[in-house]
Amino acid sequence: MTTLYAHRGASRMCPENTMAAFRQAVREKADGIELDVQLSKDHKAVVIHDEAVDRTTNGTGEVKDLTLAELKSLDAGSWQNAACKEETIPTLEEVLAWIKGTDMKLNVELKTDVYPYEGIEQIVLEQLDRYGLKERTVISSFNPETLKRVRQLDGTIRLAVLVWDETKGMVKLAQKLKAEAIHAKKDFMFTKEAVKAAQAGIPIRLYTINDLSELDGISLSSIEGIFTDEPAKLRKELAAM
Ligand code: G3P
Ligand code: CA
Repeated sequence: MTTLYAHRGASRMCPENTMAAFRQAVREKADGIELDVQLSKDHKAVVIHDEAVDRTTNGTGEVKDLTLAELKSLDAGSWQNAACKEETIPTLEEVLAWIKGTDMKLNVELKTDVYPYEGIEQIVLEQLDRYGLKERTVISSFNPETLKRVRQLDGTIRLAVLVWDETKGMVKLAQKLKAEAIHAKKDFMFTKEAVKAAQAGIPIRLYTINDLSELDGISLSSIEGIFTDEPAKLRKELAAM
């Protein structure tokens, strides 16, 4: 069984990283959602992909320079769909309060690739704990230092190493961190590191796959999960196999 995570929510149908996209992921029968977390100027965990608000809202500026109140005043939906003009940048807490009432899995990506967002690891862990969601959450990051800090703070939380282009050493890192999985692009599957991951029994989840034909040359049995913008489409394609 391939686990389907809705990438930034069901982000083909609805504006990414909004409550509309997360609710849509349930309707599209995803197994879980993936979302991106950064910190506002007043250190609140907010769900947004880019470091700047410009692409996905009607505002301008960096997330780290805007207070939660300022971020919340922005329209985070119209840029993709005029019908979604009421959507705002969710706080992580808003998503946790909602997901608790569902059976969805959760992948929280800590977006510390550009700014370190000091304290983000503790803030996120505390919130997951408060909502009783630690067991169904996997925390991922492209930043190894962030993952190390999460592991130092919590010896059992589920972690995934996020891989961009540099694949070397990723299995060792995953082992050192006691990570449960590696999240990578499909090209990873054709590297030596993928062989090492299989030998080490570390599952691989691939991002971002919007059509199963993109997996040409990759056996579905060699991956544990897929991140997709279009869960309903992938669900249908998987069922037809
Ligand atoms: O976690 C997989 C994927 O979300 C990583 O890339 O840029 O979409 O956050 P990005
Ligand atoms: Ca992400």
